[in-house]
Amino acid sequence: MEAAIIGCGVIARTHKGAIDADGRPNLRWTCDPDITAAKAVAPDARHAYDLAEVLLDDAVDVVHICTPHAVHKGQLLAALAAGKHVICEKPLATTPADLRAMTAAAAAAQSRGQVAACIFQHRHGGLVRRLKEMLDSGVFGQLTSAKLPFRCTRKQSYYDSGAWRGTWHTEGGGVCINQAIHSIDLLVWLCGNDPVSVQASCSNKRLREVIEVEDEAFATIGFNSGLSAELDITNNQVDGWVTSCDIVGERGSISVSQNGGGTIHAIQHDDQSVVDELRAIEAAIKAEDQSALPGKACYGNLHNAQISDCYDAISEGRQPFVTIADGAVAAEVVLGIYHATATGGRASLPLPDAYQVPNLLASSAASA
Ligand SMILES: NC(=O)c1ccc[n+]([C@@H]2O[C@H](COP(=O)([O-])OP(=O)(O)OC[C@H]3O[C@@H](n4cnc5c(N)ncnc54)[C@H](O)[C@@H]3O)[C@@H](O)[C@H]2O)c1
Repeated sequence: MEAAIIGCGVIARTHKGAIDADGRPNLRWTCDPDITAAKAVAPDARHAYDLAEVLLDDAVDVVHICTPHAVHKGQLLAALAAGKHVICEKPLATTPADLRAMTAAAAAAQSRGQVAACIFQHRHGGLVRRLKEMLDSGVFGQLTSAKLPFRCTRKQSYYDSGAWRGTWHTEGGGVCINQAIHSIDLLVWLCGNDPVSVQASCSNKRLREVIEVEDEAFATIGFNSGLSAELDITNNQVDGWVTSCDIVGERGSISVSQNGGGTIHAIQHDDQSVVDELRAIEAAIKAEDQSALPGKACYGNLHNAQISDCYDAISEGRQPFVTIADGAVAAEVVLGIYHATATGGRASLPLPDAYQVPNLLASSAASA
């Protein structure tokens, strides 16, 4: 199989590593308007300034989209229309309309035998996958509450590293849409994947002269099941990345994260065998050599697993573990956080087409 990477910045290197580790695909093209960046990721590949040139090559089977958020939709639609399989980085899009267009295009492509995936590598952890099976089959009983603390660090140097970062127009938001979306996806998925409402308030507490987007958010996600999840999100922590999905059910509770490959921060259950099984999975993960894998301990190192699943899906004629429709759920929740902030605090999901972003956040916070 012949692959192309579109967008040759930070995460492109992780995709290149996963392609090499899988061994089946050959990286035929790298593409970036900064051709030096394209050459740096894969000196021996062909290099293009623009996706259109790559799509003219009939030999290309799979397109990896590793570009800034606001261009994902146009590139995914173009690649699917050209008959390619697509692996698109999170977040899928920055507006509900774009999410709908991408989900519809992926569904149509699926009926033509194409694979389309959204990268949410954390879902591939052995610990969370077993936990998901347990939660879905009622092992923890009815869920009664959920919480998502999320604290990370994004300094001025991070925002200075790309002009697209820190603006509503190109990044589509701040800590929620770029960093916390990994944990939001995990929590929403673990809790049943059926969010129906969002109450939220975003603010910009720091770097007001540098970014116009939020660096903090408080939100409550309402689920169709009646469950509520509370989110407490910031990228103003001095250093590091601290998060967990804290889930309480009638029969047990767990605080779990994908940090370090999969970590249980606390667990209780009325059946000790459930605790023992999950602890054993965690111990097996900790016994593996995580240093050989790509990515970072904080946001996970499971790109290899997810990208191999995508190539398996292509070979086996099935859809990948995380489809475009799957990836759209967390994106819609994040856009719901923004829309709720812009419209008085509450939003129903799915969002209306007349989506509003709190694009005056920086100036209103600065004057507060
Ligand atoms: N899954 C993860 O853990 C993870 C981690 C980091 C980034 N990401 C995601 O990966 C994507 C890229 O992030 P990054 O940190 O690598 O950004 P980056 O700024 O380091 O790289 C983006 C590259 O895309 C190029 N580009 C811009 N417009 C383009 C276009 N129209 N066609 C081709 N190339 C174009 C830029 O020149 C740049 O080299 C984002 O969606 C981000 O959220 C995911």
